[in-house]
Amino acid sequence: MRMSVIGCGYLGAVHAASMAKLGHEVVGIDVDPAKIEALAAGKSPIFEPGLPELLVESVGSGRLSFSTDTSAARGAKVHFIAVGTPQKAGSYAADLRFVDAAVEGLMPHLAPGDLVVGKSTVPVGTAERLAKMIEPTGAMLAWNPEFLREGFAVKDTISPDRLVYGLPPEPADAATAQALLDEVYAEALSHDTPLVATDYATAELVKVAANAFLATKISFINAMAEISEAAGADVTQLADAIGYDARIGRRFLNAGAGFGGGCLPKDIRAFSARAEELGKGEALNFLKEVDAINLRRRDRVVELVVEALGGSAYNKKVAVLGLAFKPDSDDIRDSPSLDVAVRLNGLGANVVATDPEAIANSRRMHPQLVFGTTEEALQDADAVVVVTEWSEYRALDPVAVAAVVRGTVVIDGRNCLDLAAWRGAGWTYIGLGRK
Ligand code: UGA
Repeated sequence: MRMSVIGCGYLGAVHAASMAKLGHEVVGIDVDPAKIEALAAGKSPIFEPGLPELLVESVGSGRLSFSTDTSAARGAKVHFIAVGTPQKAGSYAADLRFVDAAVEGLMPHLAPGDLVVGKSTVPVGTAERLAKMIEPTGAMLAWNPEFLREGFAVKDTISPDRLVYGLPPEPADAATAQALLDEVYAEALSHDTPLVATDYATAELVKVAANAFLATKISFINAMAEISEAAGADVTQLADAIGYDARIGRRFLNAGAGFGGGCLPKDIRAFSARAEELGKGEALNFLKEVDAINLRRRDRVVELVVEALGGSAYNKKVAVLGLAFKPDSDDIRDSPSLDVAVRLNGLGANVVATDPEAIANSRRMHPQLVFGTTEEALQDADAVVVVTEWSEYRALDPVAVAAVVRGTVVIDGRNCLDLAAWRGAGWTYIGLGRK
């Protein structure tokens, strides 16, 4: 099937390449010429495992092309909207400027019977408004939220754990839209991937509800970490023990510096803002608490580093290991790790921050920080703080690291190090919510 993907960021680039891999003929469109130039040359503008290989293969096969010109979408049957919906400046609501611009730009190129498929995360009610907007073109709209995780984006796109279709209200239109989407996702459907076919509002809500649930789960365990710290308990063992209950589950119960990224933080805020517009702000009041617990964890990491340094970070060398919001990503949007580095720097610490993939992005945003290799960060450090659980940091040898630092104190902001091994090697180990 011929399709276009408008927006080639973390979501769109992966979606376009994955659709081509599945045998479709895809054009990816973005307003950023540098991004398009890189993608067209088969180069990934982001760090995402598996994406570079997929781009080379799909561009090479001739099934995937890229353009900065929206008219390239002409002739495609399905048009995916995969642009960003960041937090609006000065408000918690989502900024829909890019979604609106993408749809407006696409409209002159739509033919009757085309299907516009929204993938961006939007406030409930957006799809209905956009459907009315495109009605004069004779094209239809469906909402098909994306649940991919960065770091696993290719796998999650090609083999999703579920598909959700938000279909038009008119039954005949819904059937046509569903048939087109079934063709798009024929491969996943042939493997019995669960499918929920529903209306626009439910599809839009599924996405934000899923992210709100995940954020709540993380903040729940981080709240338990706060209590564990005060009570002298160990939150990691607590998470293991409650996680054995299949109704609770162990995943997303890792206490630490909290959640960041381009999705969870802004999605819970936009969800609260939308609930208020709907006159139901009270129903989501708890998300403000989820947000507050999450942000407190960053304060706590900084506090623990300062305490470990004897009450002042001034002129002390601190090795900050990790800048990306999670491992296997170069994404620093709302990253707790980068935030911790910036705050320690602001307290006068001599911070040397490192990350396997996110230094370039971090330097662009915070040129005042000093960046280096892991070795440079650790050399003569008075304290070490691990804030992104990259496998290479987990695998550090505490004996070897002890030989190069000045102070053997480690703050494990992700509870990811082997506590016994580090203590055994003579380190003062400080975890979050751990004894
Ligand atoms: C999240 C959702 O997990 C995806 O399902 C969703 O599609 C995506 O947002 C989106 O809306 O596009 P992602 O932002 O890639 O995916 O990252 P997560 O794996 O959810 O991690 C988010 C943050 O939570 C990270 O900072 C991570 O370090 C933190 N986290 C995660 C914890 O602090 N503890 C945990 O136990 C798990």
